Amino acid sequence: MRTYRVNILGCRGRGTAAARAYHAHPRTEIVALCDLVEELLNTLGDEVDVSARFTDLDEMIRQTEPDIVAIPTGTEFHYDLCMRVLEHGVNIEVEKPMCVDLIQADAVIARAQEKGVRTAVHHQGRVGASMQAIAGAYKEGKIGELRYIYGSGKGYYGGYGLMNIGTHMINNMLRFGGPPRSVVTQATTDGHPITPDDIVPSPSGMGTIACEHITASLQFDNNVTGTLLQHRFDNMDSSAYAMELYGSEGRLMWRGDQAWWLPQPHFIPDGEHDRWERLESIYPESYQPDSSAAEADYWFVEEYVRALDEGREHECSGLEGRRVLEVLMGVFESAAHGTRVDLPQENREHPLHSWRKEAALKPPSEMPRPYWDWLSTEFERLGR
Ligand SMILES: NC(=O)c1ccc[n+]([C@@H]2O[C@H](COP(=O)([O-])OP(=O)(O)OC[C@H]3O[C@@H](n4cnc5c(N)ncnc54)[C@H](O)[C@@H]3O)[C@@H](O)[C@H]2O)c1
Repeated sequence: MRTYRVNILGCRGRGTAAARAYHAHPRTEIVALCDLVEELLNTLGDEVDVSARFTDLDEMIRQTEPDIVAIPTGTEFHYDLCMRVLEHGVNIEVEKPMCVDLIQADAVIARAQEKGVRTAVHHQGRVGASMQAIAGAYKEGKIGELRYIYGSGKGYYGGYGLMNIGTHMINNMLRFGGPPRSVVTQATTDGHPITPDDIVPSPSGMGTIACEHITASLQFDNNVTGTLLQHRFDNMDSSAYAMELYGSEGRLMWRGDQAWWLPQPHFIPDGEHDRWERLESIYPESYQPDSSAAEADYWFVEEYVRALDEGREHECSGLEGRRVLEVLMGVFESAAHGTRVDLPQENREHPLHSWRKEAALKPPSEMPRPYWDWLSTEFERLGR
């Protein structure tokens, strides 16, 4: 059995999470780390026992010849770094969201295809232990025929929540609904339908966004629809981050690290139709619960190993990551124009950029990168 050689490019929060998973997995070996900040390199290098430490990514890849390069960096750097790494003809995984618009995502996919390598986007929730339980129960027919899917965010400002958290939720939905065919959005900022003035730069470098509150409706095949909620709450509520699959014979509920099954299609609090049963999480055989690797990140690595062994795409492939981005951009386009947007859209330009240009407005002014500072600035803009 082959061991896959891995480079980690970016050694802060998500780089550390990725490194712990690749370090713990018996079929992957981290052969080098890269960061511009030497202190981060050394801290992570010492933790995962990797002495090959670089500040130049091209040098790292040339010298250590990895099979996979993980790119856990700020979203605004994903496109440039993916393109640079792909030049070396290696498989990549990049943090979510894949890129900030479809022009970028198309270019990354095209380059990977030209180079004959795989791309994956780190939507680990789609393959984590609780989702494996949901997927297994679904496949066994425990909820009969899928009717509709519900998913919510955690309470971030809607457009930012969409790019940050919605990207995970949409990817989760795609696992069960397949490719969405269209999207329709209801969205407001400050209680009114959005205008081109409400287009703003995203916190955390996630491109351009709008909408304080978003409800989007997705149309899948077989008459299945999905409802995606990204509403700003005054107080964040991580427990709201959940997905529910409604079937003809039951329901499945995913709540991060928990999976639940209702063996009836309708919840009625009558002591008979209200019995949610907890489903047991499913872990890879090699997973050690006492390791520092988070189980979903470990599953993500396990899935990459299986995909490369079998010569197939990762469950969270770049193609799926781009599909997610098509939905994200479709949500904004529908919010802007009040229309249904068929997917995948032909026009790959960011729909909010196009809308702003049509309104003859200049690009929006810069805003702080950290979320809470960003929110204060947005509240000032809205006169709160
Ligand atoms: N999957 C998840 O659960 C999850 C959770 C949180 C954040 N994220 C995503 O993770 C990403 C951010 O990750 P983070 O918070 O660890 O980022 P970060 O900005 O804190 O750290 C990125 C690191 O990469 C390094 N870096 C950047 N460019 C480099 C280059 N050219 N060469 C070498 N090093 C370079 C930086 O020095 C930095 O140390 C975002 O895309 C975010 O959406 C995902």
